[in-house]
Amino acid sequence: MSKKEPLSIQIIILFSILLVLSFNRLLFHAQSNSPASIAFTLDGKMYIGVDYYPEHWPQERWEYDIQLMKEAGFNVVRLAEFSWILLEPREGYFEFDWLDKVLNLLNKYNMKAILGTPTAVMPAWVARKYPETLAMKSDGTRIIWGGRKNNCFSNGTYRLLSERITQAMVAHFASSSIVIGWQTDNEFGDTDCRCHICLSEFQDWLRNKYKTLDALNKAWGTHFWGLKVQTWAEITIPDSRTGKWAISNPSACLDWDRFTSWLNVRFQADQVKIIREICPNHFITHNFMGLYSGLNYYELAKDLDFVSWDNYPFFSNWNTPGIKYDASFSADVMRGLKQQNFWIMEQTAGPFGWGTFSRNPRPGEIRNICFQQLAHGADAQIWFRWRTCTAGREQYWHGLLGHDGKPLRRYEEAKQTALDYRKIEKYIAGTTVKSEIAIIYDYETIWALSYQQGYEGNSFHDAIRRYYNAFFRAGINVDMVSPEADLSKYKLVLAPDLFILPDPIAVKLDDYIKKGGVFLTDCRFGVKNENNICHDRTLPGLLSDALGIQIEEYESLSEIEYKLKVNDKFSGSFTASLYSDWIISNDAEIVAKYDEWPVSSYAAITRNKYGNGIGWYVGTVIKEDAFYDQLIKSLLNDAGITPFVQPPNGVEISVREGNGRKLLFIINHTENKQIVPVPTGKIELLSQSKTIDTIELDILGVVVLIL
Ligand code: GLA
Ligand code: ZN
Repeated sequence: MSKKEPLSIQIIILFSILLVLSFNRLLFHAQSNSPASIAFTLDGKMYIGVDYYPEHWPQERWEYDIQLMKEAGFNVVRLAEFSWILLEPREGYFEFDWLDKVLNLLNKYNMKAILGTPTAVMPAWVARKYPETLAMKSDGTRIIWGGRKNNCFSNGTYRLLSERITQAMVAHFASSSIVIGWQTDNEFGDTDCRCHICLSEFQDWLRNKYKTLDALNKAWGTHFWGLKVQTWAEITIPDSRTGKWAISNPSACLDWDRFTSWLNVRFQADQVKIIREICPNHFITHNFMGLYSGLNYYELAKDLDFVSWDNYPFFSNWNTPGIKYDASFSADVMRGLKQQNFWIMEQTAGPFGWGTFSRNPRPGEIRNICFQQLAHGADAQIWFRWRTCTAGREQYWHGLLGHDGKPLRRYEEAKQTALDYRKIEKYIAGTTVKSEIAIIYDYETIWALSYQQGYEGNSFHDAIRRYYNAFFRAGINVDMVSPEADLSKYKLVLAPDLFILPDPIAVKLDDYIKKGGVFLTDCRFGVKNENNICHDRTLPGLLSDALGIQIEEYESLSEIEYKLKVNDKFSGSFTASLYSDWIISNDAEIVAKYDEWPVSSYAAITRNKYGNGIGWYVGTVIKEDAFYDQLIKSLLNDAGITPFVQPPNGVEISVREGNGRKLLFIINHTENKQIVPVPTGKIELLSQSKTIDTIELDILGVVVLIL
């Protein structure tokens, strides 16, 4: 008979356990509030590693793989995000042995693991037993099982099955010292289900949002075409893609996109709740997709400890090497989701594609791609993938190792990169990008523009790129922030193409300028309210005073172009294209006017002093990049911001700071050596040499100065 502890001792023990648990939790969350340090948790070493699919290879190979990883300086792998069928081969029957074996091997080499909840691909038995879990297409048929991203997020059975595998998995690995954190699912997004459960969930969601049908009818403007609904059940799923007579009320479309985004957020929240309860010491993240905009990423990021993302930078220049503007733009969007540093969960490791594949990373480019992300706030670096799979849809998605499994050039370069990271990680710890400039990045505007582009060629991302790329060329960091963000810490704020403008945001922007901020906006700014209905004020609406202008008329230009006449702030000849605001200046300085009939009496670009600040408006798309380079110089001048270094074209500058240090990253994206002017007498951390007044960068080379 076992001796029983007195009740009071049991209570004390229980209480202490609870105390320790909640202390751990507090500790972790305290750490995640100082996010720049998240990655520095394995003996002070940054996490560097690969996405590893041991299930693709014979067990006899596993230890050799892990040895090779260790020799390359890696200390982490991501595992299991597509292995539901292996973990739960029959409903309710779980098998973790194979994964335990992998973890034990990792442990032998003091390496850690991140596990993916495996819900991005349902096992065949789920589809067979519960066919209603498969998403329904707009033609009313269901997706045929056999690929990825195939489930309905409203379906209760799928949600329960997903919770059950998550619960079983986290319970099994909760006490593992090898597991450090979890990735929820894999790359949420791209699922668009139109089944009757999604429809009734949509109706419930709308009822919860609008409370009354009168409010919904008003918000959606259903007086148009007599589309008033008189019961919640009359609401149908809008479709923005099926032609002009279709169910495509832009207000309904915006709510549908908000709703489907929320479905993903809710699905993730179900998993997060389970993981938090069972594994309070493990972090939770998700692998986002940079500029992907099918979901409201701000919302998806809220529940997580930090954001991770998957960087495939050749997408924007598939076959020609070039300046990787978009990889930086994406990194800044990712850092902006929680305004904190992020991880790279999948990093390009080789040529990629499905049917055809891209060029190979050039010598030095694997390292260059990683340093670019590090410079923008990546606190960990994980390559996709370890070894190129010989089977399946991604046979051409090359890893660090090829199909043959030999550690060759790309492996060696990753090893070199890891070595370089080790040289600088102690300086990196506790640093992040601190910019004085913000660009407003808004998912609802992206969605609204996707149903009504306005002028042909209007793209929110292209609008941002016009300015972002010019800042990049000027060697200046930018933050990407949500419309709701606090702007008071920024000297300069840009809101290109901010189409959806609720009144409170307009009032905030007006106030920002009045109080001394420098602000710029442009074409199609503030056209719509939060219901995607046109404001009934003359543009630019509530910002008319701050910008000193009114826009009574505007037009698409498509084939037409207008010459511009610039004032003495600019030099050169510039062309207005794609779109034209016919701007009447009230008090604003006219920076450029149209130089052609019938618009010669209108301004194209203006600058207005308002309160203590300045409001710029650019009412057209200027064809020449040189214009934006000059514009950025004027803006920096107005805001009193000076770059540390003026880089030659194709060379990127990014600064991480914190803990009393500033690290200046200089990254050469060109296929030539570059000489860059730098401050004298600074230490270059990779070579431990002292700078004179210039520094030479190799082809695709990188240097890191400590300022
Ligand atoms: C994404 C996914 C990976 C893989 C790669 C390559 O980033 O998360 O699973 O499919 O793309 O296609
Ligand atoms: Zn559905």
